[in-house]
Amino acid sequence: MIEGVGRTDASTEAGLVTITPTLIPKGFRIIEGYSIREPYVRIAIVRNDETGEILYLVDEVKLTRRERSIYLRIIETLEWELKPIEETEDPYEYFRKTAVKTIHKYRIRLGNIPGVSWAKILYYAERDILGYGKIDALMKDPNLEDISCDGYGRPIYVWHRRYEYIPTNVMFEDEEELNEFVLKLAHKAGKHVSTAWPILDAMLPGMHRVAATFSKEVSTSGSTFTIRKFREDPISVIDLINFGTIDPETAAYLWIAMEYKMPALIMGVTGSGKTTLLNALTCLFRPTLKVVTIEDIPELRLPLENWVQLVSRPSYSLGPERVGEISLFDLVKVSLRYRPDIIIVGEVRGEEAYVLFQALATGHGGLTTIHAEDVEAAVRRLTSPPMNIPDGYIPLMKLGMIIRRVRIFSEDNPAGRITRRVAGVYEVKGVGSYNRVSIWDPYRDRFEKNLNDSFVLREIAETIGRSYDQLLEEVSRRSTVLRWMASKGIRSYKDVASMVHLYYADPWRVYERAVKEA
Ligand SMILES: Nc1ncnc2c1ncn2[C@@H]1O[C@H](COP(=O)(O)OP(=O)(O)OP(=O)(O)O)[C@@H](O)[C@H]1O
Ligand SMILES: [Mg+2]
Repeated sequence: MIEGVGRTDASTEAGLVTITPTLIPKGFRIIEGYSIREPYVRIAIVRNDETGEILYLVDEVKLTRRERSIYLRIIETLEWELKPIEETEDPYEYFRKTAVKTIHKYRIRLGNIPGVSWAKILYYAERDILGYGKIDALMKDPNLEDISCDGYGRPIYVWHRRYEYIPTNVMFEDEEELNEFVLKLAHKAGKHVSTAWPILDAMLPGMHRVAATFSKEVSTSGSTFTIRKFREDPISVIDLINFGTIDPETAAYLWIAMEYKMPALIMGVTGSGKTTLLNALTCLFRPTLKVVTIEDIPELRLPLENWVQLVSRPSYSLGPERVGEISLFDLVKVSLRYRPDIIIVGEVRGEEAYVLFQALATGHGGLTTIHAEDVEAAVRRLTSPPMNIPDGYIPLMKLGMIIRRVRIFSEDNPAGRITRRVAGVYEVKGVGSYNRVSIWDPYRDRFEKNLNDSFVLREIAETIGRSYDQLLEEVSRRSTVLRWMASKGIRSYKDVASMVHLYYADPWRVYERAVKEA
């Protein structure tokens, strides 16, 4: 039971936290419980063993009718009293100060309200003014990757790291409430949304990515939104090895390819992990490389000093002429003036792809992602409008990787769990001619490799005057180093980059340490 904030109902134990039992629907039992903010909000994951259905329940303290009416008055006053703040000021601190002052005034006036009520009122005021209101707990839950609302009157769905997509007990009741909320999201992102401009694609504070539609303009069920939550701690290549997304040998091969600026294309469907894989590969660059990244929404975080991050800008105008727009195409063109060693385009979709391939033709390195199921589909997209890459340009993109979200079955988990796998790594010789370097076997959950005939390694060997066998030995040494880093818990993207940089400076020292400590 939550102490001090007036929860009166008997509670059910769930791990270390207790959950309000009336919240749990009939036929369900708690399989996991955790706290988001004590003592105000907790989460219970419940399951119906008969149907296998899983629900995500937000267990938040409730306001009594009296508290609610005071809360509404306070909110109104606060909205008047809160002024825009200086950039140097911490918004939470400022809010707290003002809220505490306002509440104090009411407290004196209203006299007999217990302290816990004021604490609850302050919690709700903070949640609704500074936070994300109804979905604030979801935004604060680090286990969630995605939060999506498909319309009012329907439960909000979340993508939970351990349970995939599951419905929650949070819902926007009516059209008006949801419209208001989408306006609030746009406001938080510093963008505009209206019936005239009913689409929002923006970044919320804290780097969370939001896509939304407003009212019934473009979606039959009214306003909708999806938030892709930002991870504080980016996934590194060692994390990918630990998750089993990639194996150390394939990663070692890619490490050499990245060192020699081999252009690479990452393919996959929505949410498969393309951007994450791309970002993880940048840990493997030489620290002396100059990199320019070009994105619509700034998602990438590179562990490098010499990095310029360019972000496109949509048009200001609502009319057909695109006043003020700076497109990916414009940015790729200008990026060449920066003399980059590597140009990274977050995702190619249009004419910017052509400029990127031209940059590859003049010897730049390049990395990008494309929305496609497999190599054939990706090449088909690249060579058709609006990208229109000539067939002869295709082999400039020397490597192709496919990332998939897959379900893995095991003896102790017959229902399977969702995870990501680099399902294939290919070398591109030309349209229709691909050399498979690594492929994931879904039956055994293993990566089958074939490095005996890699033209990328052969090309690198020739450039640096080594034999093919010497390069294969280098792949093997680097995979030992990666395996050792994984076993030693050297995993944060900064630590991984530091170790990789150390390897560039003194490969034998790092390798010998890895062998000794393995
Ligand atoms: N290998 C992985 N293991 C675990 N989680 C991952 C992995 N790759 C990505 N994720 C998580 O999955 C979510 C989607 O990843 P990401 O943004 O990289 O996908 P994407 O394919 O680029 O999506 P989009 O098509 O929307 O651009 C993120 O929350 C990320 O943290
Ligand atoms: Mg992406």
